[in-house]
Amino acid sequence: MITSQTSSPTPPKYLQEDGVSEDCKKLLSTLPKEKGWIGSYIYNYQGFWTSPRLIQGVIACQQQFQAQNSDIILVTTPKSGTTWLKALLFSLVNRKKYPIFEQNHPLLVKNPHDLVPFLELKLYVDGQVPDFSSFTPPRIMSTHLPYDSLPKSVQDSRTKLVYLCRNPRDTFISMWHFTNNLRLDYIDTNSIEEMFDHFCKGVSLYGPFWNHVLDYWGKRIEKPKKVIFLMYEEIKEKPTIQLKRLAEFLEFPFSIEEENCGVIDEILRMCSFDNLSNLDVNINGKLSTGEETKMFFRRGEVGDWKHYFTLEMSEKLNHIIKQKFHGSGLNFLYI
Ligand code: A3P
Repeated sequence: MITSQTSSPTPPKYLQEDGVSEDCKKLLSTLPKEKGWIGSYIYNYQGFWTSPRLIQGVIACQQQFQAQNSDIILVTTPKSGTTWLKALLFSLVNRKKYPIFEQNHPLLVKNPHDLVPFLELKLYVDGQVPDFSSFTPPRIMSTHLPYDSLPKSVQDSRTKLVYLCRNPRDTFISMWHFTNNLRLDYIDTNSIEEMFDHFCKGVSLYGPFWNHVLDYWGKRIEKPKKVIFLMYEEIKEKPTIQLKRLAEFLEFPFSIEEENCGVIDEILRMCSFDNLSNLDVNINGKLSTGEETKMFFRRGEVGDWKHYFTLEMSEKLNHIIKQKFHGSGLNFLYI
């Protein structure tokens, strides 16, 4: 499992810890830290865990981002299906500009992360001033931030928030694979046992997982016009119903003609795991942030955790899930 290499090449930016500003270094020295999933350490900032370079991006985006009422922001916990939802959102919202049946649809040549950029992870990550001139309203962006850490203008505007949640077991397995893939060529990989303990303690990317999910689960009731709560497993099970629900929430409902012409089916086909993962851009491409696009497409299934969890792990996480989600109406026990 552990594959230490002595003469590693220079790690890509997302693994480097020394690229942060002096101010950020000072801040980091005051924050709780734990062993990292990607880099050496992960830090607790404003109640959630993230890596040093991203804290810099979070602060810049909180200070500078000016939301517009027409903005749409996808919010996810990492590895809950962000790539899929980005593709669905992009094709749904832009279906007049980019008809889904056309041969030159942007999703055929660009990875969803390049079409729907992350705020703190891409647009603001290295202290740059993002250029929004090429964005036409409605702008679609994404973030992993908890509600209270969103830029104030996002909270105060009529910006719509699309929250996507996935069951914690598959989210954990996906996160463990993904982060180890990022580390693989540069540092040692993390064992599943160690990272499972981290996840259970709440020390996961943008975790604690339960806080993140319950935060937006509550907001969907408090602000039903602003927040929609989607679940990966429900989209898998009833994709048409969930896509129509999303379209209505965003005020881009499908017309009867569109339904009859198969627009919904075609959007779902275009964004399916099989279709996206077999496109050249998602096999051989690289994001501007350095990751290979193929890393975002592993298995895309519900229940893959069953191949990895021991009975002991299952029981431990079941117990935590029962405790954390008790009385919330959210139930992940039978997925
Ligand atoms: P697995 O690792 O379980 O396969 P994110 O996009 O938030 O990084 O999440 C990645 C997870 O979503 C991975 O899960 C990936 O395979 C899955 N995924 C990517 N594209 C998908 C799609 N079009 N449909 C369903 N799942 C998808």
